[in-house]
Amino acid sequence: MYTITLIKGDGIGPSIMDAAVKVINATGVAIKWEEAYAGLAAFEQFGNPLPDETLASFDKNRVAFKGPLTTVVGSGFRSINVALRQQYDLYANVRPAKSWAGVKTRYDNVDIVIVRENTEGLYAGLEHYLTPKKDIAESIAVVTRTASERIIHYAFKYAQDNQRKKVTVCHKANILKYTQGLFLDIAREIAPQYPDIQFDEKIIDASCMHLVMNPQQFDVIVCTNMFGDILSDLTAGLVGGLGLIPGANIGADAALFEAVHGSAPDIAGKNIANPTAVIMAGAMMLAHLGETAAAQRVVTAVETVINEGLHVTADLNPNSTAGTIEMGDAIANAVTAA
Ligand SMILES: NC(=O)c1ccc[n+]([C@@H]2O[C@H](COP(=O)([O-])OP(=O)(O)OC[C@H]3O[C@@H](n4cnc5c(N)ncnc54)[C@H](O)[C@@H]3O)[C@@H](O)[C@H]2O)c1
Repeated sequence: MYTITLIKGDGIGPSIMDAAVKVINATGVAIKWEEAYAGLAAFEQFGNPLPDETLASFDKNRVAFKGPLTTVVGSGFRSINVALRQQYDLYANVRPAKSWAGVKTRYDNVDIVIVRENTEGLYAGLEHYLTPKKDIAESIAVVTRTASERIIHYAFKYAQDNQRKKVTVCHKANILKYTQGLFLDIAREIAPQYPDIQFDEKIIDASCMHLVMNPQQFDVIVCTNMFGDILSDLTAGLVGGLGLIPGANIGADAALFEAVHGSAPDIAGKNIANPTAVIMAGAMMLAHLGETAAAQRVVTAVETVINEGLHVTADLNPNSTAGTIEMGDAIANAVTAA
C-alpha cells in the first residue's frame, strides 16, 4: 500500500484530480490518498497557502499528486509551486509532449521531452525593488555548477534509459555570458561522457522558431528554469494543447506529479477541463513507484478514449457533449476493461 499526498488545488484542480484519482484507483494499485491543501484555496481557508499539515504529509510520504495552484499575478503570496520545488529540491522537471493519433494538429510524430532545471535560474526568488518609490525592480538569476551538472546528467541519463537519441541544450549564452554561459559550458563538458547520445546546442530564440517549423528534429531538450517553463507550453501547443501534457518534479528523495497547465480560472466549474494531463501525470507517478504495468494500462486507456474521440472534452472534439467527469469515467472504464 502506497500513501500519497493528494493536493487537489485551485480552479479546475478539484474536478480533474477527482477524475484522475478514479482512473488510478481503477488500476487496482493499492493507494491511500492523504488529502492536503495548498494554494489560493488553502490561503482563503487557513490564511496560509502552504499549511504545515501539507508539508508534514509530503515530508512523510515523499510522493505527491498535485492539481494546479493559482498564483496571483504581481502581488500576493509567492508561487507555492516554486516553493515546493525548492524546499524538496525537486530539481528535474520532466515534461513529455507527444503527438496523439486521435488529436489533429499541424504536425504528426512530435515526441519531445523537456528537462527543465527546477530550483534556480530566474525563479530563484531573488527579486526586489531598488528604490522606495518602487519604480525600479530587479530579478537575479542564479546558476550553480552543482545544479547545472545534475540536471544535464539527468537529461542524458533520461535519454539513455528511454531509448532516446539526442539531447539539445537550449540557452542564451550569447547574451547572458555568465549564467547561461556557465550552463552551456557544463553541457559541453558533460556531453562527451554520453557518446551514445547525440548532443546539440541552440540559442533559445532560434529554438522557438525551429520548434514551430520543424519540431521533429528535437528529442530531449535541457534548459534552465524559465526557458523550460516557456518551451513546455510551446511544445504542449504543438501536440494539441495544455490539457494533454503531464509533468514530473523529481528530486533525490521526493517526487511530485502534476499537469503542466495552471488552474484555468476561465473554465473552472464548467465541467469542460480536459483531465488528460493530470491522468498522464498519474501514469508517470505509477511508473515512478515501479508500477509500470499499471502505468502502461493508464496510457493505453487514455489513447483508446482519445482515439475514439467520443467521450472527450470539447477542446479535443467540439461536437462531443462529454465533460471532465464523463471523460474521466470513460478512461477509468477502459482501464478496468484492459
Ligand atoms: N503547476 C501549477 O500549479 C501552475 C502552472 C501554470 C500556471 N499556474 C497558475 O494557474 C493560474 C492560471 O494561469 P494561466 O491562465 O496563465 O494558465 P492556464 O494553464 O491555467 O490556462 C491557459 C489556457 O489553457 C486552458 N487550459 C488549461 N488547462 C486546461 C485543461 N485541462 N483543459 C482545457 N483547457 C485548459 C485555459 O482555459 C486557458 O485558456 C495562474 O494563477 C498561474 O500562476 C499554476
